[in-house]
Amino acid sequence: MFFLVLQFLLAFSHTTLGSIRVAESYWTLKPNELVVDEDVGKYGSEVLVPLMCGDAFEGQDIIWRRESGEELKEQGNRILVTVEERQGGRYTCYSRDGSYLNYTLVLVQWPYKKIIKETSEKGYVHCSTKNYSGSFQCSWTWDEKRAGKVVLIKAVRSHNGGNISCSLNSSGHSITCQDHEYCPYAEELEHINLTIYFRSNYVVETYYLRFQISDIVRPDMVNIRKKNNTLELQYPDTWNIPFSYFPLTFQVKEIRCRKESDCNCSNRKSSRVNLTQDQHWPLKGGVTVCVRAQDDLCSSSWSEWTQYKCVKEKNKKRTRKNKRKRFQKEE
Ligand SMILES: *[C@@H]1O[C@H](CO)[C@@H](O)[C@H](O)[C@H]1NC(C)=O
Ligand SMILES: *[C@@H]1O[C@H](CO)[C@@H](O)[C@H](O)[C@H]1NC(C)=O
Ligand SMILES: *[C@@H]1O[C@H](CO)[C@@H](O)[C@H](O)[C@H]1NC(C)=O
Ligand SMILES: *[C@@H]1O[C@H](CO)[C@@H](O)[C@H](O)[C@H]1NC(C)=O
Ligand SMILES: *[C@@H]1O[C@H](CO)[C@@H](O)[C@H](O)[C@H]1NC(C)=O
Ligand SMILES: *[C@@H]1O[C@H](CO)[C@@H](O)[C@H](O)[C@H]1NC(C)=O
Ligand SMILES: *[C@@H]1O[C@H](CO)[C@@H](O)[C@H](O)[C@H]1NC(C)=O
Ligand SMILES: *[C@@H]1O[C@H](CO)[C@@H](O)[C@H](O)[C@H]1NC(C)=O
Repeated sequence: MFFLVLQFLLAFSHTTLGSIRVAESYWTLKPNELVVDEDVGKYGSEVLVPLMCGDAFEGQDIIWRRESGEELKEQGNRILVTVEERQGGRYTCYSRDGSYLNYTLVLVQWPYKKIIKETSEKGYVHCSTKNYSGSFQCSWTWDEKRAGKVVLIKAVRSHNGGNISCSLNSSGHSITCQDHEYCPYAEELEHINLTIYFRSNYVVETYYLRFQISDIVRPDMVNIRKKNNTLELQYPDTWNIPFSYFPLTFQVKEIRCRKESDCNCSNRKSSRVNLTQDQHWPLKGGVTVCVRAQDDLCSSSWSEWTQYKCVKEKNKKRTRKNKRKRFQKEE
């Protein structure tokens, strides 16, 4: 097979026009879809790409057309087409009598990142999971100026490859993956290599991430229940059991705020911040308690804050209104 390609390239090398070179680096995305690496430094702004109509059509009189319908001057089963910088295309081959035979879609992989948007906190593609179950989600934000779509997802364990399946979420801007060989009770030695290929028109962009489940784990919000004069900090339902094997650390912050709009745990600083594994917190009047959780055994992300406001009996009227807006309902 290698020799065939080499012969083919050699046979054509004398036909290369002036400075236009034959692409050395191209790969098959799917049957009938070819991706050429754009490397302007190496090839200049144009590159020649070898196409073949089909093994069965060797030696036959074959004509080619681009998607616009225009007929190419190149003819035969194997041709070289000139692909300009960032301009792929769909090439269809026909027999001399005009019957359709096959097609190849030529896409260009460029080094830019334009199909999806970068955000300051989350980068381009953000992966996370709520627990150690081997399942994880990755999401991104489309650039609304480009009609992007996912064309291929590759997820493997760094050494043995493993068995990781991914599917595109119905929303179109996230994927859900499952490592079928993941074991929550064993130390995770290997990384996950994840590559997502995005396409917009005839351009392909590649995004590569490498991580372990323990890097991306972020617990769900803590549940808070009032019991007498104590708040009970409960592990999220989606966290792993037994809790003794998967301990969480709670960060507890007490803030004072009068207006509902001031009561935002994420941007209110407090001098009273405690770290604790204890699930009980003494309730004080007049303060709002903010709680979030992190895996006790590795410093991955904190959960979102859960907010609990101690309600005084006197302000019943205002309280009832505020109650609905709160994250946590009182019992
Ligand atoms: C059409 O092209 C694809 C991709 O090159 C090839 O796998 C397939 O065999 C071709 N079909 C025929 C009928 O030759
Ligand atoms: C995963 O990525 C690492 C580093 O990029 C690489 O050395 C390794 O070969 C990759 N593993 C697989 C199975 O592709
Ligand atoms: C991967 O795991 C799934 C679920 O356990 C199984 O159905 C599938 O056959 C596995 N695939 C391979 C290649 O082992
Ligand atoms: C996946 O899509 C479903 C429904 O469209 C949505 O409820 C869920 O939150 C999405 N998951 C992610 C990680 O975006
Ligand atoms: C907490 O309240 C329960 C009834 O709801 C009561 O049985 C218990 O003794 C109380 N505990 C304390 C320490 O006050
Ligand atoms: C583990 O987390 C995933 C999402 O990261 C979630 O879909 C799944 O339901 C969680 N498992 C349990 C047992 O809650
Ligand atoms: C708290 O503030 C952050 C940004 O400072 C904002 O993103 C978040 O929505 C606010 N939360 C609430 C509950 O208002
Ligand atoms: C919180 O931390 C402060 C010191 O930083 C300590 O005095 C206080 O007792 C702690 N509170 C609890 C409930 O652990």
